[in-house]
Amino acid sequence: MANIVLIGFMGAGKTTYGKWLAKQKNMVFLDTDEMIVEKKGMSINDIFSKYGEAYFRDLETKVLREIIESGADNIVLSVGGGLPVREENRRLMKSIGNVIYLKASIDTLCERLARDTTRPLLKGGDLRDKITGLMEKRQAIYEEAATRIIETDNCSEADVRAMILSNEV
Ligand code: S3P
Repeated sequence: MANIVLIGFMGAGKTTYGKWLAKQKNMVFLDTDEMIVEKKGMSINDIFSKYGEAYFRDLETKVLREIIESGADNIVLSVGGGLPVREENRRLMKSIGNVIYLKASIDTLCERLARDTTRPLLKGGDLRDKITGLMEKRQAIYEEAATRIIETDNCSEADVRAMILSNEV
């Protein structure tokens, strides 16, 4: 069951660090967003605009269940920023391994997401307001879902990598 799940807000670095960690530890990297895009043959933006967010959330749970049903072993799994919001998803993630929350402040996230066009929930309006609103709803959820929390603010990539490795069981 030695799996690692990476959670956190959009732009927290889940995919980047997840890919690196999997390579480092000779594990298999999986990403729920990538799996959904592949499954539907559409971008996340297109899935949201064509079918809506609720449909996307159901796909997230479906993909997560499929990963678990296929035996989930030796994987690093990066999940979409909103996936932990659903209680069932939090239970499923915890059932397969350690859940690491890559935590970043609103300032850091604003910087990282300033030029992003791939996240439908951040489109239009004021970016900081959107991030703040979502974080208000999610912060406690991420913390509850996590078995470990890594603060990434003011850390170099090398620092975060070292913390991820030292946080492993
Ligand atoms: C979302 C995060 C995105 C993606 C979708 C919704 C969210 O994934 O699943 O745009 O609700 O936070 P990343 O966290 O990988 O950007």
